[in-house]
Amino acid sequence: KTQRHTQKQGRLTPDQVPLAAQILRDGGLLAFPTETVYGLGADATNGQAVARIFAAKGRPVFNPLIVHVVDLAAAERLAVFDDLARDLAARFWPGPLSLVLPLREGHGLSPLVTAGLESVAIRVPSAPLARRLLVAVGRPVAAPSANPSGRVSPTRAEHVRDGLGDLIDGVLDGGACAVGLESTILRTAPLALLREGGLSAEAIEAAVGQPLSRDTTPGKVQAPGQLSSHYAPARPVHLDVTEPTPDAVLIGFGAVAGDLTLSAEGDVVEAAANLFDMLHRADRLARAQEALWIDIAPVPEAGLGRAINDRLRRAASPR
Ligand code: TXA
Ligand code: MG
Repeated sequence: KTQRHTQKQGRLTPDQVPLAAQILRDGGLLAFPTETVYGLGADATNGQAVARIFAAKGRPVFNPLIVHVVDLAAAERLAVFDDLARDLAARFWPGPLSLVLPLREGHGLSPLVTAGLESVAIRVPSAPLARRLLVAVGRPVAAPSANPSGRVSPTRAEHVRDGLGDLIDGVLDGGACAVGLESTILRTAPLALLREGGLSAEAIEAAVGQPLSRDTTPGKVQAPGQLSSHYAPARPVHLDVTEPTPDAVLIGFGAVAGDLTLSAEGDVVEAAANLFDMLHRADRLARAQEALWIDIAPVPEAGLGRAINDRLRRAASPR
């Protein structure tokens, strides 16, 4: 089933969606843009293809992957939806929400995708290029973020090339990702927030009419996004810095002006879209200036600010 692509394609443009889809159907690894971050995609029904995702990222095999499909009907062929899950899907799909649901019998997914669990994380991306790709592939696509395990997630095709370069068969280039943070992960039965992300907890709470419990218990589902050291630039990171210091590159926010800024206006949505690109850029700037670390200004803990701070704490945690 897997036919290795000996001919690497490198960067693919949006008019090359048919070729991108063929790479996936042939068992290849293709990075593609979603509204959250670039994903490293493989045919989720092809075990060998999925295994290559883990190899390319250096990702532990016990970490399950998110499956991407084009609509709710395709999702319902893979998982069992209760009323709450269907309501949430109707309200927030397509968009930056992943739902963890019980697997449906006959789902056809490789067991590597779910790390042998009885549940599967599914999302329906909204980025038009991702949607065209999923239609052309006609199969569920497993995709973690397209970065080496533990490093900063990619929000541009160049980030993917810098991190994974020759290890993959192609990158579909759709420019910068609109949201810039990974999807929010929600389990519906029982209802719990498993990962803060591109859809704010407040928006979900308003929809379900109750506060969300958070279930990020370490040791339950071990996933890179939940390990303490993650999203790590090459240089060490210091948080809540409000003044420039020598030997550091400062990433500002709002009134704190830096060498770079997440959002000069202090807008958390703009900051989310810029976050990973600024971490990649700060690393390059630190290398050029021989700076020793990366300082980051405080970001308010509300709306997407929560997910931003979650990623920043992991970027700053001891390696
Ligand atoms: O925005 C996103 O979600 C991006 C883009 C590419 O779609 N993908 C992404 O995938 O962030 P990844 O592999 O970095 O994150 C997968 C997360 C894991 O951290 C794990 O917590 C959760 O999905 N997950 C997957 N299957 C699960 C399951 N059955 N139960 C609980 N959590 C699960
Ligand atoms: Mg990731």
